[in-house]
Amino acid sequence: VDYLPGVLMDKIQIRNSEEEDFLVISQIASKCSPMVTERDSIYHIFTKFFQNTVFLAEKLENGNNIAIGFLIGFISQSNSDESYIHLLCVDPKFRGRKIASNLIKKFCDAVSQNGCKKVYLITKPINQRAINFYQKSGFRICTDSKIINIRGMDVFKDYDGFGEHMVVFQKDLIVN
Ligand SMILES: CC(C)(COP(=O)(O)OP(=O)(O)OC[C@H]1O[C@@H](n2cnc3c(N)ncnc32)[C@H](O)[C@@H]1OP(=O)(O)O)[C@@H](O)C(=O)NCCC(=O)NCCS
Repeated sequence: VDYLPGVLMDKIQIRNSEEEDFLVISQIASKCSPMVTERDSIYHIFTKFFQNTVFLAEKLENGNNIAIGFLIGFISQSNSDESYIHLLCVDPKFRGRKIASNLIKKFCDAVSQNGCKKVYLITKPINQRAINFYQKSGFRICTDSKIINIRGMDVFKDYDGFGEHMVVFQKDLIVN
């Protein structure tokens, strides 16, 4: 097992999801406001049918693996150049320790090995911590004709329904 380097005394590993992981993913997601939470059946679809692009971060504690973060993403079915991160979440007790950065790296490596050239994701304009995090991680805010400016931020008008404006991020991948 490859443990994450430099993560204090803890042994933390990241692995692809297995089907039954949807239950622990649901538990972590419930602690991760302001991110949306899904019905458990949606997590189950991802952990069953998207295992190559769904990752779980776990801490080894007294011989047990405790789930502390996850990334749910997929490769576009309509454009194989594009991938999408749907949800990214780290248990509040374990934030600021590069777990999300490593989850993103695993995802980007996996999708670029499959020929993807771009990663997309969206976030709520009020989620300043996530916005800062994605900008630091090399994502740029997309701009196009549907963009409006709210309090100095470019957001995609009505992206998730009327009044549900979202910040759309994109990152180019280096394809080997
Ligand atoms: C956004 C989120 C995934 C980041 O996870 P993380 O594992 O803390 O991220 P990393 O440790 O890789 O990077 C953290 C960055 O956040 C900041 N940070 C540092 N300590 C932090 C802390 N205790 N809490 C929050 N953020 C912190 C730093 O800027 C750090 O970057 P730096 O190491 O270059 O200084 C996490 O805050 C989260 O789960 N939020 C709730 C769910 C959510 O909003 N998800 C995104 C939308 S889908």
